[in-house]
Amino acid sequence: MSVPAARFDILQKRLSEHSQTQVLRFWDQLDDQGKQHLASQLEEIDLDLISHLIADKDEKPDFAAIAAAATAPPAVRADGSGAAWTTEQAFERGEAALRAGEVGAILVAGGQGTRLGFDQPKGMFPVGPVSGRTLFQVFADRLLAIEALYGKAIPFYIMTSDATDAQTRAYFEANDYLGLKQDNVRIFRQGTMPAIDAKTGKLLLASKDSLALSPDGHGGTVRALKRSGTLQDAHNRGVKMLAYIQVDNPLANLADPTLIGHHLLANSELTTQAIRKRYAMEKVGNLAQSDGVVQVIEYSDLPVEAAEATDDNGDLKLWAGSIGIHVIDVAFLDRVANEASALPFHRANKKVAYVNEAGERVEPTEPNAVKFEKFIFDLLPKAQNAFVVEVLPSEGFAPVKNADGAENDTPMLAKKAIVDLSRKWLEAAGATIAEGVMVEINPRFALTPDQLREKIPANLHVDEDRYFDRGHFDRE
Ligand code: UD1
Repeated sequence: MSVPAARFDILQKRLSEHSQTQVLRFWDQLDDQGKQHLASQLEEIDLDLISHLIADKDEKPDFAAIAAAATAPPAVRADGSGAAWTTEQAFERGEAALRAGEVGAILVAGGQGTRLGFDQPKGMFPVGPVSGRTLFQVFADRLLAIEALYGKAIPFYIMTSDATDAQTRAYFEANDYLGLKQDNVRIFRQGTMPAIDAKTGKLLLASKDSLALSPDGHGGTVRALKRSGTLQDAHNRGVKMLAYIQVDNPLANLADPTLIGHHLLANSELTTQAIRKRYAMEKVGNLAQSDGVVQVIEYSDLPVEAAEATDDNGDLKLWAGSIGIHVIDVAFLDRVANEASALPFHRANKKVAYVNEAGERVEPTEPNAVKFEKFIFDLLPKAQNAFVVEVLPSEGFAPVKNADGAENDTPMLAKKAIVDLSRKWLEAAGATIAEGVMVEINPRFALTPDQLREKIPANLHVDEDRYFDRGHFDRE
């Protein structure tokens, strides 16, 4: 089917009003399918918004001033201090919410994983040190274990992007939804934003019949949840809060009762987990409070003086590093999903392949384009009683971001973290493990150190690599 002249005219007029007609440069060379494709892409994008972003006139937050005046956010520390309730009370409150079926899980898995050099969706990366389980399987096993313990299903909402959607769906289908009920898994796709040429502000073409588009950032979750009917699905199931994690962190304590309990006891709309930064300029977002508002200041925006400032004990004032694990109220998401400009766009200079005027594809070696992304943590300033809960990195944060050989956040280090934590649990339960042996525990075997103690025989000795898979332990 060809694109009718009237439709083309409207498109051309809109593009011309925004000085973007260059994207129609190859129109006459396209076949009907190519014309349809490009026309639909162009009709999808909000040119007023793009022009506004290109003009870049919005006032930018003065992060240096905010950081200088900022204090640490309201938080409960790893030792339980900082809250008017105990960790045990939080655990019990979270258990009650899980038992009541009020918790859903959301996994953001739209990122392209370029730094890791893995050409499939990152969730398909085999991270289990002994089992070879994928990241998706690790999270599914956790949900299965929690569902079995509390007797209620946890809907698993997975956000994909154009880059990861088809393969993610195929993977879940081919693998029987990893043991989860298909009804309880909902895969939905985030939106896209066009990339623009950094020098000219013009929309780039990825090919003659298609724009250079990229995912709109994990902040795109809010709109995508609403548009895909996923927020409504949560309502229909009586889900009141969503436990949110990023796909890259196998230690993420998805749907952790204690974190959920802290969220509820703090009467918070958005609670976020944080690690104590190991050094002042660590490359994580910084949770800070100023004028009573909690927000994340990215490490790139944090001046050294503010990063290095210490309190009376000599500890970093801005100690809390954001790790992308949150509990978010569904009612709060409803509210912000209806606000068109609830989240600001951030700009990032990136390398984006494009087709030049001569119709040749160019693979830039230096950043040539600006991408626009929203960040989910920009919801923090809008949330009532935003709250922070500290987790030890050894118990909750070992992301897979860079290829092996890099200094940090590599698969090798993530696998080591899984082995170290499993070893710690096993030793605390009375087992001895030979030096250099790898151990890994599936949460369906034991979700907590207490469960593990009940499952393994006294004086267990492990002298070869061992995966404590689900099911029963064959007593030796
Ligand atoms: C992010 C945080 C950083 C935090 C760190 C902890 C941002 C901007 N920074 O850094 O503050 O300390 O994690 O690990 O988030 N994703 C999508 N769609 C997108 C973009 C990302 O689903 O459009 C997902 C990715 O699949 C991934 C997660 O969001 O699961 C994080 O994205 P990434 O861009 O890798 O963030 P980092 O730079 O690692």
